[in-house]
Amino acid sequence: MAKEISLATVKQHNKAEDLWIVIENKVYDVTKFRTEHPGGEDSLIDVAGRDGTKEFIDVGHSLEAREIMKKFYIGDLAAADVKTTVPVRCAHVGLALGAIVLGLSIIYVFKR
Ligand code: HEM
Repeated sequence: MAKEISLATVKQHNKAEDLWIVIENKVYDVTKFRTEHPGGEDSLIDVAGRDGTKEFIDVGHSLEAREIMKKFYIGDLAAADVKTTVPVRCAHVGLALGAIVLGLSIIYVFKR
């Protein structure tokens, strides 16, 4: 199983010479890569020690960039620090709506 790394630990690696970034709940050590990054060192330093998923996606990185990332993967973000994802929230809303529709249908049938 992949190593689990907490957000608190990631936060300690927030400098140019010690640079970790979280992207899509995976932790990357891009210390060595930063000087080779086509998007420049500064864009990586801006998100050092935190979650840079939004920034990474906003740039629209290529598949090649995703291949390169794999070399710097060091572990997964600890489950406790993973934010509830949109699909899970959608499922909850879906269930709630389903229950309301079912409830209304039952009331309708019995009131006839
Ligand atoms: C391990 C993480 C990353 C890898 C391997 C990576 C790799 C690359 C590569 C290969 C490119 C060239 C264009 C492409 O192929 O898409 C690029 C461009 C760029 N990246 Fe990253 N990147 C990473 C993280 C980030 C993050 C976190 C940010 C922003 C905070 C960022 C900002 C940019 C920008 C601004 C460009 C320039 C886009 C342009 O000039 O059109 N990158 N990156």
